[in-house]
Amino acid sequence: MDKLVIEGGRRLEGTVKISGAKNACLPILAATLLSDERSVIKNVPALRDMSTMLKILKNLGVRVQQDGSTITVEPAGYKKYVAPYELVSTMRASVCVLGPLIGKQKKAEVSFPGGCIIGPRPIDLHMKGLKALGVDIKVERGYIVADAKNLKGSNVYLGGHFGSSVLATGNTMMAAVLAKGTTVIENAACEPEVVDLTNFLIKMGARIEGVATHRLVIEGVKKLHGAEHSVISDRIEAGTYILAAAITKGDITLEGVALEHIVALTDKLAEAGLEVKKAHDGIRARYARKLRPMDVTTLPYPGFPTDMQAQFMSLMAVTDGISVITEKIYPERFIHISELARMGADILLEGASAIVKGVKGLSGAPVMASDLRASAALVLAGLVAKGRTDVHRIYHLDRGYEDIEKKLLKLGAKVWREKEK
Ligand code: EPU
Repeated sequence: MDKLVIEGGRRLEGTVKISGAKNACLPILAATLLSDERSVIKNVPALRDMSTMLKILKNLGVRVQQDGSTITVEPAGYKKYVAPYELVSTMRASVCVLGPLIGKQKKAEVSFPGGCIIGPRPIDLHMKGLKALGVDIKVERGYIVADAKNLKGSNVYLGGHFGSSVLATGNTMMAAVLAKGTTVIENAACEPEVVDLTNFLIKMGARIEGVATHRLVIEGVKKLHGAEHSVISDRIEAGTYILAAAITKGDITLEGVALEHIVALTDKLAEAGLEVKKAHDGIRARYARKLRPMDVTTLPYPGFPTDMQAQFMSLMAVTDGISVITEKIYPERFIHISELARMGADILLEGASAIVKGVKGLSGAPVMASDLRASAALVLAGLVAKGRTDVHRIYHLDRGYEDIEKKLLKLGAKVWREKEK
């Protein structure tokens, strides 16, 4: 296992290229299962989660070829419909093959995805959406077992206790595109990753209206063809580098990223005093004055993303004054607080809100990464801390941040990877 070592205290500056979006790419790769024809997916980031998804596709009998960031999927003639525990248990997002298998094979067996460190992650909305389409679906032997011979369009409201669901919307939509008749999904998630998936499905010949809204109208078709698609850039990776500029008092230009996808973050940071501007083919984030503390609440898109909450907390931990960070998507997603405290942060958890009292500085320490975004938060803290920070268990980071140490190194950080002893 590897760890990341950071000697903190350097100002980051320069240009960084943002990779393709992990959370758009995973369901898009799954969607290639809806056709018999070849699809070509570009701008695929080199991440552990992507390897897991490719293993799942291969395990289903699909041929997959990789050439740098381009992946060619040849599903012709695949007959299997099982996504086994050994693969699904390593990545919760594997559940997004459920919709495509139901649409194409009219049956599926997908290992039930477990909970994870960011709190309970139920799949009732996935089940609700698919049941509404006439799918007979139950949990047996730890698997979601679906029989979809009567797959037909229907109306379904996909709102839960915490609002809309990204992957439940994706799964329901991917089953509906090959269902008989019309499906209306109310309270559909409209995160940019869902929009990217919808655009890919349309390229495959799906008939979907209401793209990027909370109401998707899907007219089922008999067959989809293969398509070529370049995945959108990763707004969460982008946001993390913007925060790296803020926390190190730096000046970073991000290439290949859509400002409109991260307005909730950049608006907050601008209010805090960071200069964030559209630059040629991207965004420039520059520390120009002392930052002010900011309260944020995570919400479904276009609200402040839960996937930026931990990283934002690292910035507030060293911003003079008090900020309150409230989590409305995953109320238990606060494991990073105790690790930030090891570095000298002063943070109190009150229910689903963290009260952050900005301290003058952090000091480097050995810390343990608990999930992907918490790991990114610890890296940000390490960049500003005095001395050496060892971020253990960085396999989490490798799930979602392509070439993180190379990118940080290029921006002037002193960072390297070491094997754990
Ligand atoms: N929810 C339910 N029932 C369901 C599904 C979700 O109650 O059947 C709840 C969840 O517990 C949560 C809320 O709905 O409170 C939103 O969850 P959502 O279903 O949208 O999450 P997801 O689709 O499983 C994706 C991302 C997550 C990101 C969330 C929220 C992928 C592969 N994952 O998960 O990304 O946090 O949307 O935006 O797209 C990450 O990248 O680190 C990550 C965790």
